[in-house]
Amino acid sequence: MNLDVILGPLHLRSPLIAASGTVGSVVDFADSVDFALYGAAVAKSVSPEPWEGRPAPRLAPAGAGMLNGIGIQNPGVEAWKAQYASKLAALPVPVWGSVVAHDIEGFATVAAAMATAGVVAIEVNLSCPNLDGLPFALDPSLSASVVASVREATDLPIGAKLSPDAQPIAAVADAVAGAGADWVVLTNTAMGARIDTTTRRPLLSGTIGGYSGEALRPIALRCVLEVARDVPDIPIVGCGGVSTSADAVEFLLAGATCVAIGTAHFGAPRVAGRIAKGLHTYGRAHGVERASELIGAYEPW
Ligand SMILES: Cc1cc2nc3c(=O)[nH]c(=O)nc-3n(C[C@H](O)[C@H](O)[C@H](O)COP(=O)(O)O)c2cc1C
Repeated sequence: MNLDVILGPLHLRSPLIAASGTVGSVVDFADSVDFALYGAAVAKSVSPEPWEGRPAPRLAPAGAGMLNGIGIQNPGVEAWKAQYASKLAALPVPVWGSVVAHDIEGFATVAAAMATAGVVAIEVNLSCPNLDGLPFALDPSLSASVVASVREATDLPIGAKLSPDAQPIAAVADAVAGAGADWVVLTNTAMGARIDTTTRRPLLSGTIGGYSGEALRPIALRCVLEVARDVPDIPIVGCGGVSTSADAVEFLLAGATCVAIGTAHFGAPRVAGRIAKGLHTYGRAHGVERASELIGAYEPW
């Protein structure tokens, strides 16, 4: 199967994307992840100033998924550029920068700085809390304002990464599309929590964190179906619990152009090899010559 796909203004050699926060800066994971098999890899989110992140514990198992409450620890955009910008061109994969901030101007500041660092696109991480403590991604008009400010700051293609907690998610997708996003990423983690019944303490120091992995997949898939139906012109990167080629095909059929792999990297850094091989096997078995034929090609009841 030919894996080439067109995502808005980008031509990608594969629909597989390495999800932000699961392959570090990309540079640090170059020896353990088969980046040549991905259409793009997204670096961990970066803020205007350094963020310390939350204290341990920051990761916890939770049923068929995983909780994380890292608090987007990062060195701030200037230190990030100094450390990584000169190394991005040598990587075997196009790198997308991920921007995050607590206020609208902060997103624009990071995007403008990153645009000269060698990234080929900017992903806007809208799941971060604003100064009122609520994630931007829950509010269509705030999300649109963030994307509009990033749109002004850079000519690079922009992906807006939305939250599965937003209802209806299509309203947020529509708002960011109107503000200049070239695609949406569906989705970031869902908010979740667990409590240790012996110590009576939450498993994360931040109490509530992001829930990812297999259990997120049907929820993210529902988001893809809703946005593909209600905002048909915005391309979609599906993301949530992908660890097999069947998972990837499911997202493509639902209407995603690309499929991001996140938590699966922690157990299997070379998971993309298995997924790409499985896509070729699926193509041969089902007479599918191009991955792009699968996009939105599910059969409704
Ligand atoms: C440990 C960890 C760190 C993450 N850090 C980021 C981040 O910095 N920025 C971001 O946009 N998403 C971040 N994510 C979310 C993932 O990119 C992805 O959207 C989410 O985990 C759902 O996909 P998955 O179920 O395949 O992991 C992180 C996820 C995990 C598990």
